[in-house]
Amino acid sequence: MCGILGYIGDQRKTVDVLMKGLSRLEYRGYDSSGIAVIEDGKSRVFKSKGKLSKLKTKINKHSPKGTLGIGHTRWATHGDASQKNAHPHISGGTSVVHNGIVENYLDLKNELKKKGYKFYSDTDTEVIAHLIEDLSEDGLDFEDAARAAFKKIEGSFAIAVISDKEPDKVIATRRFSPLIVAKGDNENYLASDVPAILPFCKDVIYLEDGDVAILEKDSIRITDIDGNKVKRKVQSINWDPISAEKCGYRHYMMKEIFEQPRAILDTMRGRFSEETGEVFFEDVDPSLFKNVKRIVALACGTSYHASLIGKYMIEKFAKISVEVDIASEFRYRKPIIDKNTLAIAVSQSGETADTSEALLEAKERGAKTLSITNVMMSKIARDSDGVIYTHAGPEIGVASTKAFTTQLVAFYFLAIYLGRLKKQITKKESIQMIKDALSIPQLIEITLKLDNQIKDLAKEFFTYRNFLYLGRGINHPIAFEGALKLKEISYIHAEGYAAGEMKHGPIALIDENMPIVLIAPGDGIAYKKILGNLQEVRARKGKVIFLTSDPHAPEIQGNVDKIIEVPDCPYMVSPIISIVPLQLLAYHIATCKGTDVDQPRNLAKVVTVE
Ligand code: M6R
Repeated sequence: MCGILGYIGDQRKTVDVLMKGLSRLEYRGYDSSGIAVIEDGKSRVFKSKGKLSKLKTKINKHSPKGTLGIGHTRWATHGDASQKNAHPHISGGTSVVHNGIVENYLDLKNELKKKGYKFYSDTDTEVIAHLIEDLSEDGLDFEDAARAAFKKIEGSFAIAVISDKEPDKVIATRRFSPLIVAKGDNENYLASDVPAILPFCKDVIYLEDGDVAILEKDSIRITDIDGNKVKRKVQSINWDPISAEKCGYRHYMMKEIFEQPRAILDTMRGRFSEETGEVFFEDVDPSLFKNVKRIVALACGTSYHASLIGKYMIEKFAKISVEVDIASEFRYRKPIIDKNTLAIAVSQSGETADTSEALLEAKERGAKTLSITNVMMSKIARDSDGVIYTHAGPEIGVASTKAFTTQLVAFYFLAIYLGRLKKQITKKESIQMIKDALSIPQLIEITLKLDNQIKDLAKEFFTYRNFLYLGRGINHPIAFEGALKLKEISYIHAEGYAAGEMKHGPIALIDENMPIVLIAPGDGIAYKKILGNLQEVRARKGKVIFLTSDPHAPEIQGNVDKIIEVPDCPYMVSPIISIVPLQLLAYHIATCKGTDVDQPRNLAKVVTVE
């Protein structure tokens, strides 16, 4: 989950590149941070517990000069969040930053201790620094020592290392953790993720497992672990550097909520024909769906909620049975999978360890695989037979917003695609469905105008300690997602339930101190049933926030405390609209409480541990 970064070149100040890049990787972890820069042949290391701003203050006092350096932003795994456990870790003249886990670190540590190496941190990373130092003492040059050390390490990792002995190269490797290298003019970069290098260059190479990259000022060489040259494709990134900036918004989350109309257009772009009602996916071969009898969707958190809605869409349009599994549970329950099963891994980051492992498990059991992800060439994308990229652009806020709505749009289009392929919907029907999808960006624009009203609502409700979210039909997972948004950024306890479940337990919680968000857009059967729930809540004096597209309906007059009016829209796209005010509600409640919206406590954007 940590973020790593490296720079070599004389085109800019190394320390500026490292600090700017780290600020764009901070979403990956923010327990501590650090950099090492080689100045006049000697590494200068700066570390700090807490947010990057703390490190900045330290560096401002003694800014190091030099033409190469590495940086790190940490989400603690081995060892608590403290200055001594912050990276880089050093041994002699070797400095190392690391994302991942060294599984055999105890064995290595004991060996190194016997040789007299002293350990100053509780991390697994420190063994890497000592190992490289030890191998160089044995006479290996920096490159060979690094490769020999990487060979000895077991686990999942991305590592960058510099050495005072050869202050003209940065060496990096990866196994199961992401790492890119990027080419500039007389300067080169490495990073855990694209946003870190976007302000500087656009030509990147996605390293593969086992690759070792040697970055010098004017060259990037890639070898395998034995030193044999390997060729990797250079890809040009078309993300706008601005897309990873706050652009005047106070928080990334707010910017990302407001970006949803644009992001959704990008998800749809080039993937449909309004005349024929056909849907196209550039990285999916239709043969993938041959003989598919059932689908299993695998995901965590918000992506899991998107999958629950995807189930509704695919079952309705394509009449294929869909099961949705929490990825962390899937591997441990002997799932029934065969060659007629399609496993769909859904993940914004494409890196979530639980989802990635579940996907591999399904594959091993014979399933065909497809992924829905936002990150190009991510692990999950590369491990799948086909991939649907959501093209939401970088999502930096830890609370997922535009990634969720674009996943829903991807599922909606997949449902149309499968519906046509399996001849379950006609051309006329799919043309209408595409028309409905095309109305979504405009409907979200209308919904976003509720911002001020929801801000006022938040002021009235932010002191409550518990919230209940209830939804029905295709909107019932929106209750889960609304509740998740609230708890992760405001730390208020919130539960999401299918409204019909209320009477089976949660009703016991209802009193005048319990706000209940009833999600009831449209006027279909789900809406009518929710009116029954409304009565049950009122009878127990619960406070009701009612999300509806018909605020004048006689049944709700005098029966609700607050109304959130969303535009009327076709039922199958309604969750994509209903979630927007709930994202805003969570955001404004969190800002009223003064919590850290973009970097809530204990969380990280990318969860690469199981
Ligand atoms: O990158 P992924 O979509 O695989 O991430 C899954 C969850 O970790 C993620 O959705 C998490 O629940 C978010 N913080 C929710 O806002």
